[in-house]
Amino acid sequence: MSKIDYSEKIPNNVNLAEDKTLQRALEHWQPNYLQWWQDMGPDGSTNFDVYLRTAISVTPDGWAHFGHVKMPDYRWGIFLAQQEEDRKVNFGENKGMAAWQDVPGEHRANLRRIIVTQGDTEPASVEQQRHLGLTAPSQYDMRNLFQINVEEGRHLWAMVYLLHKYFGRDGREEAEALLQRNSGNQDNPRILEAFNEETPDWLAFYMFTYFTDRDGKFQLNALAESGFDPLSRTCRFMLTEEAHHMFVGESGIARVIQRTVDIMKQHRIEDPNEVRKHGVIDLQTIQRYLNFHFSVTVDLFGADQSSNAATFYSAGLKGRYEETKRDDDHVLKSHQYKILEISNGSIVEKEVPMLNSLNEVLRDDYIRDSIAGVGRWNRIIEKAGLNFRLQTPHKAFNRHIGSFAGHRVSPDGRLVSEAEWASNVRDWLPTEEDRAYVASLMGRVIEPGKMANWIAPPPVGINRQPIDFEYVRFN
Ligand SMILES: [Fe+2]
Ligand SMILES: [Fe+2]
Repeated sequence: MSKIDYSEKIPNNVNLAEDKTLQRALEHWQPNYLQWWQDMGPDGSTNFDVYLRTAISVTPDGWAHFGHVKMPDYRWGIFLAQQEEDRKVNFGENKGMAAWQDVPGEHRANLRRIIVTQGDTEPASVEQQRHLGLTAPSQYDMRNLFQINVEEGRHLWAMVYLLHKYFGRDGREEAEALLQRNSGNQDNPRILEAFNEETPDWLAFYMFTYFTDRDGKFQLNALAESGFDPLSRTCRFMLTEEAHHMFVGESGIARVIQRTVDIMKQHRIEDPNEVRKHGVIDLQTIQRYLNFHFSVTVDLFGADQSSNAATFYSAGLKGRYEETKRDDDHVLKSHQYKILEISNGSIVEKEVPMLNSLNEVLRDDYIRDSIAGVGRWNRIIEKAGLNFRLQTPHKAFNRHIGSFAGHRVSPDGRLVSEAEWASNVRDWLPTEEDRAYVASLMGRVIEPGKMANWIAPPPVGINRQPIDFEYVRFN
C-alpha cells in the first residue's frame, strides 16, 4: 500500500484502523505529542501559514504535496516504504534467513535501544532549533526551518509507531519518555551529547543540518539494512525526507560564503576584522563553526571499538552504510579494519577486527560524504579568486568519545600539549566573541524575497515557486 490514508485521525499507510488496540494507544499518545509541540516546538509560530510539503505517497514519483498549513495542523503520521518481496536478513549470523516481520525475542532489548536512541534525536533537534524562527534571514529560510522541524516531528512518530506496535508496555513507556527528555535539560537531557548542544544562530543551524542531519542519514541507512523489516521500511522512507535537511545546510553555508566573498571582492579586503565591518561572516569564523560541528558530530558514531556495534551487526539488527552494495561475505568474522590510536605520544594506525570497529567504519563513510560538500563550498571561494580554503578537521580533533577523548589534537591531526591547545583554541573553535558577533547579525527578515545582509539569496525557490513567493503568512 503506497497511498496514505488521510481520512484517519492519524494518517498512515499501515492499515492502522485494523489494529484497534494500537490505534487507541497512538491516539492516546497524539495529544501528548501535540502538547510537546506546543511547549517545545517552534517558538511563536503557531498561527503562521507555512508553505510545507506533506507526504501523500511513499513512492518516489510525486510523493509530496505542497500547500500553506499551520504547523500544529500538519498531518503527522506513519509512513513506511513499500514492503520488498522475499526480503532477507542480508548480513551477520542470520544472513539468508527471511527478514523478521516481528521482533525476535532474543534481540528485543537491543532493538528497543536502537529505536529509542534514534527516536530521541528527532524531537531533540526541534527543541534545539525552536528559537531560530525569530531570527530567520528570509521567508524562504524560515519555511525551510519549519519544514525540517515538522519532518523531525514525523520521524519521532515513525519511531514511536515501532515502539507501540512491537514493544508492548515497554514501548509505550519509552514513547512517553521521548516527550519528557529535553535537549540541554540538566535533570532529563537527550541521550546523545550533540543533541544537548544549543543551535543558537543560523550559521550553527546550517552547520547542524549539513553535518548532524548527515549523521542521521548514515544512521538511517545502516538501520534501513536491518533484518527487522518494519525498521528497515520506516528508515527508508525517513531518508526521503532527510535529503532536504542536508540540502538546507549545504546551500545555506554556500549562500553565507557567497555573500562574504562578494563583499571581500567588492571592497578588496581579506582581514576578518575588515570583513566584519561590512556585516558579513568572515571565512575564519565559518571555519571555526565547521570545526565545532564536525567534531561534535563525528562523536555521535560512538567509540572506535565497540562490542555493541559487533553484536548489532552479527545479530542482523544494524548493517553498514550500503551493506548490500558491498561485495564481501557480510559476516566479517575474518575481516580487519584500520583504526587510529595514540601510542608513544603519536597517532598511529592499528589493525583490529572489523566487527568491533563498525562504528569507525560508519564514521569513515560519513567523513568521506561530508568532505564532498566542503569541496563544493571551496569552489565558491576559489571562483572569487581568494586563496582561503575551508577544511574538515582531522577526525581526532576535539573528540569526547572514543580513544581520543581526553587528548588534545590539532585540526591538522597533531597530538599537542595542553599549553599549545590553550594558545590556539581560539583559532580552532568558535569563541564567545565569534558567537556574539554572529548573534549580532541575526534578526528576522519578513518581506517576501528579501534577505538578511549576511546571506546571498538562493538560486531558486521551493517547488518552483519564485524566491519572493510568500512562503510564510504571518497572519
Ligand atoms: Fe530526522
Ligand atoms: Fe533531519
